[in-house]
Amino acid sequence: ESGYVTLDIGYKNTGATKSAITFLDGEKGILKYRGYSIEQLAEQSTFIEVAYLLIYGELPTAAQLKEFEHEISIHTLVHEDMKKFFDGFPSNSHPMGQLSSVVGALAAFNPASLKQGLSPEEINTEIIKLIAKMSTVVSWIYKKSLGHPVIYPQNKLDYVTNFLHMTFGQRTEVVDFDPVVVNAMNKLLILHADHEQNCSASTVRIVGSSDANIYASISAGISALWGPLHGGANQAVIEMLEKIKLDGGDTEKWIAKAKDKKDPFRLMGFGHRVYKNFDPRAKIIKKACDDILEKLGINNEVLDIAKKLEEVALKDPYFVQRKLYPNVDFYSGIIYTALGFPTDMFTVLFALGRLPGWIAQWKEMKENKEPIGRPRQIYVGVKSRDYVPMDKR
Ligand code: SDX
Repeated sequence: ESGYVTLDIGYKNTGATKSAITFLDGEKGILKYRGYSIEQLAEQSTFIEVAYLLIYGELPTAAQLKEFEHEISIHTLVHEDMKKFFDGFPSNSHPMGQLSSVVGALAAFNPASLKQGLSPEEINTEIIKLIAKMSTVVSWIYKKSLGHPVIYPQNKLDYVTNFLHMTFGQRTEVVDFDPVVVNAMNKLLILHADHEQNCSASTVRIVGSSDANIYASISAGISALWGPLHGGANQAVIEMLEKIKLDGGDTEKWIAKAKDKKDPFRLMGFGHRVYKNFDPRAKIIKKACDDILEKLGINNEVLDIAKKLEEVALKDPYFVQRKLYPNVDFYSGIIYTALGFPTDMFTVLFALGRLPGWIAQWKEMKENKEPIGRPRQIYVGVKSRDYVPMDKR
């Protein structure tokens, strides 16, 4: 009676769509955005240029990039009434809960985005607005956590510098950021920008397939990313490393815990559904860690523990047999810490980086006129029975 259903729980072997955005080769550890390798983009491009590439499919000309950045710069302000949202959150509320709520609410502040049958130009305006406002919202969440006044966007700054200004700037002067910091931020956001049909991108696509507006779709993606098995791992990694540091840096003990099936503890930042080799992003971030810590003159005990964990795990048969390697989340938190971010902001930064990828996936799903996502099941419940009145139960 299950008819034609093939069961594939967790979609481990299911292709959900045809996509031209991102290519992954899990065996070889290859990642490309629109055919360009992540190594080249991380070294030579900027986050806003990679956002353009992912969304529109081509590297922009100088004029196209200038226009894109100008369009974004005139939409960076968030409606002043949005501040009432921030006033409503308790000061210690998790930044991801704030981000998913506020992004979903952007639709309410933007009735035009709720119209059915938006034209490609109208959709593009919403895309630009979302990219513009996301960095403002992320920086306001951070300022709120400190009890500091928010900083308004300086539209003459480039996207990443503007984000850093709103996040770490003070009320008046525009901070003159160390190019090392701006460079590291661009690189991190580029490395997080897309990753084909991961959990949160699939969430964005399936929510968008019901013709829900882009804000609702991205808000759903933010919620999916929050999970510690997904984007939330970058926060969980640092919390794990801090625990190991407090425990005297005994990496062998924690590796043993990760292998113990009776112990729910997993080595956070290790393993991946697709990469059965090194996550190419982890390699780049690990190197960037050394560079930025050296340049900022920070010696980081937690980085030493991370490197020791990696060294021990990569020699351990349990990890080798299961092809468990460091993933994108293993080192990223160390750089975020060096840049001055608290751990509960890490997954929000992942979301800021992933936004153009989610948008590109959502746009492609709509342009391909994909049907509403509605999987089937194999029913294993009770076949049938009659209602029992309360006095007979
Ligand atoms: C991201 O999909 C993407 O592309 C995601 C992402 C992106 O850019 O969007 O790359 C970002 O989410 C990276 C992953 C971050 N998550 C973590 O670091 C959390 C720790 N890692 C895992 O929980 C796990 O590795 C997953 C969730 C990443 C992948 O899980 P799978 O593919 O479902 O694999 P599994 O859980 O079935 O594990 C296979 C085996 C199991 O052992 P056995 O049952 O075969 O004995 O490997 C073991 C697992 O117990 N295992 C681990 C482990 N990860 C897997 N054991 C210890 N520590 C780990 N981290």
